[in-house]
Amino acid sequence: MHGADPRLVLGLHRSRHHRDLLTAALDLSVTALDTAAPYLGFRSHAALTEAAADLLPRFTLSTKVGFFPSAGGAEHSLDPVRLRLAVERAARELGREPDTVLLHNPEQSLTGLSPADGHALLGDACTALADAARDGLCSAWGVASWDPRPLGMVRVHGLPSPDVLMVRAGFLVGIDLLDATTVLRTAWRAGETWGMSPFGGGHRKVWEEFDPRPFLRPPHDDLSRVQAAFRAAFHLPSASAMAVGTDNPGHLAQLVQALGAEVDVAAVSQYLRTLHGHRQS
Ligand SMILES: NC(=O)c1ccc[n+]([C@@H]2O[C@H](COP(=O)([O-])OP(=O)(O)OC[C@H]3O[C@@H](n4cnc5c(N)ncnc54)[C@H](OP(=O)(O)O)[C@@H]3O)[C@@H](O)[C@H]2O)c1
Repeated sequence: MHGADPRLVLGLHRSRHHRDLLTAALDLSVTALDTAAPYLGFRSHAALTEAAADLLPRFTLSTKVGFFPSAGGAEHSLDPVRLRLAVERAARELGREPDTVLLHNPEQSLTGLSPADGHALLGDACTALADAARDGLCSAWGVASWDPRPLGMVRVHGLPSPDVLMVRAGFLVGIDLLDATTVLRTAWRAGETWGMSPFGGGHRKVWEEFDPRPFLRPPHDDLSRVQAAFRAAFHLPSASAMAVGTDNPGHLAQLVQALGAEVDVAAVSQYLRTLHGHRQS
């Protein structure tokens, strides 16, 4: 791979938030954590400080706002006042300003809106996060989207450009989503692209049937299929960082090892062409 080294971000979506995992991460030189206000039943920020307040300064931290507790359980909202309060709350709970704050699946709030109304709502939300960054509540802001297609529909042109666009990555992501990401990040002039969920949250059986190791160059017999899938995910779509979840330090070590492999970008391009061809046929 050319350009910056690929970066592993330890995602805490499914994590038990145990100190041992954070210690193992630091031992492996994994120094980026990704969480969100609602993770661990809306206790992720507090649990991190309870378990490892002393370790947190050694990590860069990204978190997400825009998913709130509600009477019925939880709800998405792009209300700029709620977003601002949520960013302030995150800093209080974490005992420090997060490095990056991401809008959490904003597409969920666009359902049923006209493109013009969606554009205005998303724009106000982006401005709230851009203002929070300007005011020193975080260093950077961005958007984490499970499905970027509705964001493209509201025409992001003219909205504040996010520093980070975080999207699903890897072989389990369909060509429609990969294409939507490419269009969106260009239209929005997003800074970095981060991938997430390279294993779709689990699905281990897939790798028994599909061997992604031919996508490495040279083929690495010493790496497992899971490792190859993780490494190739940085090209599906092209991403500088990858948020991946594990509660197993041994698995984390395997993922770190995989970062050193090179991806056969020609094979990835061929794979994408094949997916496009199948869609058209
Ligand atoms: N919309 C959003 O904003 C959003 C949505 C989803 C995810 N994310 C971000 O992406 C992160 C990752 O997503 P995710 O946890 O849902 O999915 P994931 O990273 O695709 O998958 C996590 C699963 O992969 C397994 N795994 C990891 N490394 C492995 C290895 N070396 N060998 C075998 N199994 C391995 C883990 O099991 P073990 O624990 O047994 O290793 C865990 O069950 C989240 O924590 C979050 O930061 C964001």
